[in-house]
Amino acid sequence: MEGDRLGVLELQNVSYSYSDGTVALQNLDWVVQKGEKVALLGPNGAGKSTLLKILAGLMFPKGGTVWIDGMELTKKNADILRRRIGVLFQDPDDQIFMPRVWDDVAFGPVNMDMSISEVTSVVSEAIQKVGLQGLEDRVPHHMSYGEKKRVAIAGVLAMKPEILLLDEPTSNLDPRGRSELVTILRSLENTIIVATHDVNVASMIAEKAMVLNKQKLTDGPLREVFSQTSLLESANLEVPDVTKLFISLKEEGLTVDNLPLSVKEGTEHLKRLLD
Ligand SMILES: Nc1ncnc2c1ncn2[C@@H]1O[C@H](COP(=O)(O)OP(=O)(O)OP(=O)(O)O)[C@@H](O)[C@H]1O
Ligand SMILES: [Mg+2]
Repeated sequence: MEGDRLGVLELQNVSYSYSDGTVALQNLDWVVQKGEKVALLGPNGAGKSTLLKILAGLMFPKGGTVWIDGMELTKKNADILRRRIGVLFQDPDDQIFMPRVWDDVAFGPVNMDMSISEVTSVVSEAIQKVGLQGLEDRVPHHMSYGEKKRVAIAGVLAMKPEILLLDEPTSNLDPRGRSELVTILRSLENTIIVATHDVNVASMIAEKAMVLNKQKLTDGPLREVFSQTSLLESANLEVPDVTKLFISLKEEGLTVDNLPLSVKEGTEHLKRLLD
């Protein structure tokens, strides 16, 4: 089957229910191309975290098939595939377990058979990127939630995975931390899937989106997804305020061909109109 697959991640008819009978995912078909940055949107309980854990090879679908780079994900090869995938859990307490920041960030690289000098270099680079320099000796357990989130993100970045699965990476980050993380993620050429409730972050990082509520409701370019207002409303989702403003102006008769997703795009649009 290798080579026949369409994307770096592909799901066919994937379903998952927990042992208590709770259905989390139903008959999900989805393709993500190499290098794409995709926002995973959906209300609480939609199955976003469940899906990321399945893609990370940490849980296995109850039905259907997952392919990673053309290789079917099975219990046998999950270990090999897991090395190519970095996952940031929604709750940093599920991820951080070493008693010192530096050791926690270094844990993945050390277990990837990197040399000591490589480990030192990737760890200090990752710590720098998330703005934790000076806190290397702190006990993560005693840090604030936002600081712990940064430790967890540094740990994922330090492993330099080909595919990044990020579950609410910006929750509890302050505005500067959030915009620094957005800048980092935008600069990466990796395939990135980011589950988020923050529509501004989604629009800054991702060019595509998938809307999930146990089943796939829609997927495609972010702009197209964000223009499906009634579908988004039915899934309890919103669009960035700037986008809302332009949807409202459009309803008032303004010509809006390319729905602005950011303040910058909105400004450009208004400037063109005023000229
Ligand atoms: N360990 C578990 N046992 C039973 N049910 C679970 C378990 N984990 C999650 N669920 C249920 O599975 C469904 C999907 O949960 P999931 O955590 O994937 O949603 P989510 O989209 O990530 O939500 P949120 O936006 O709140 O993070 C929910 O109904 C949830 O209650
Ligand atoms: Mg979740």
